[in-house]
Amino acid sequence: MKKILITGALGQIGSELTMKLREIYGTDNVIATDIKKNDSEAAQNGPFEIVDVTDLNRMGEVASKYNVDTVMHLAALLSATAEAKPVFAWNLNMGGLMNALETARELNAQFFTPSSIGAFGPSTPKDSTPQDTIMRPTTMYGVNKVAGELLADYYFHKFGVDTRGLRFPGLISYVALPGGGTTDYAVEIYYEAIKNKKYISYIDKGTYMDMMYMPDALSAIIDLMEADPTKLIHRNSFNVTAMSFSPEEIASEISLHVPGFEITYAVDPARQKIADSWPNSIDPSAAREEWGFKAEYDLTKMTKDMIEKLTQKIL
Ligand code: SER
Repeated sequence: MKKILITGALGQIGSELTMKLREIYGTDNVIATDIKKNDSEAAQNGPFEIVDVTDLNRMGEVASKYNVDTVMHLAALLSATAEAKPVFAWNLNMGGLMNALETARELNAQFFTPSSIGAFGPSTPKDSTPQDTIMRPTTMYGVNKVAGELLADYYFHKFGVDTRGLRFPGLISYVALPGGGTTDYAVEIYYEAIKNKKYISYIDKGTYMDMMYMPDALSAIIDLMEADPTKLIHRNSFNVTAMSFSPEEIASEISLHVPGFEITYAVDPARQKIADSWPNSIDPSAAREEWGFKAEYDLTKMTKDMIEKLTQKIL
């Protein structure tokens, strides 16, 4: 990776990935793009271009202008929004991905896009979900992610594009908020704990989902992209996870730092249904074996860091 184009660079992953890649590869070598500009560091402190990912010509024009050798395609709708607007989600998630893959093919660029635990469905084994298993998702987001994994593998086998991907769990960070996901509760809960000492969870007690702290997610992306291609048996996409917990477990960890913190429940049937169709915990051993994936943060270490950083940020 020497000259990197990022789509969705002002989103939850992109805002931090852009800055981290600029530290490693140099500010001018990381071109942030998004559908609109804001005043974040990623938009202001380095090259930025407006790109609507459904516009192939515009994406190609920006990629050629900077002569990029890597495309990181992050722009997408998350699960709950995709479920509310399925046709729009198909057009954005699949149209955007196809355009990004075509851009990578044109420039012979390396390619990354995230998949998700949402690619699994109710018939997938729920515990220690294997790398290679049944994938029959029942959400539009999941359908997009499975199709996306297959499409990225297709571009590798058919056209030789160096495509790589990760099946991310819920990602937790104090920098940018996620938007429209099912796992967002695990970020909101920290904000509410610090501001109000209480949180009303839209996910029910006893619901387990995989999660990861953003620093581990960023390292995983970089390590995978730098991995020796001869060691990769899989490409799109690798199971990665750092922890699995339920709302009551994250609440009890938070209460160690925020005395008196209380969680109550007002379950949102739409998001609960999505969560119930996903695994409880996935097995990341293929990622460990093929490119050395590891996560530094468990629930205890992440919670300590989140509370410290968010307290500085919002109080
Ligand atoms: N965090 C995502 C979501 O909840 C999962 O990939 O939609």
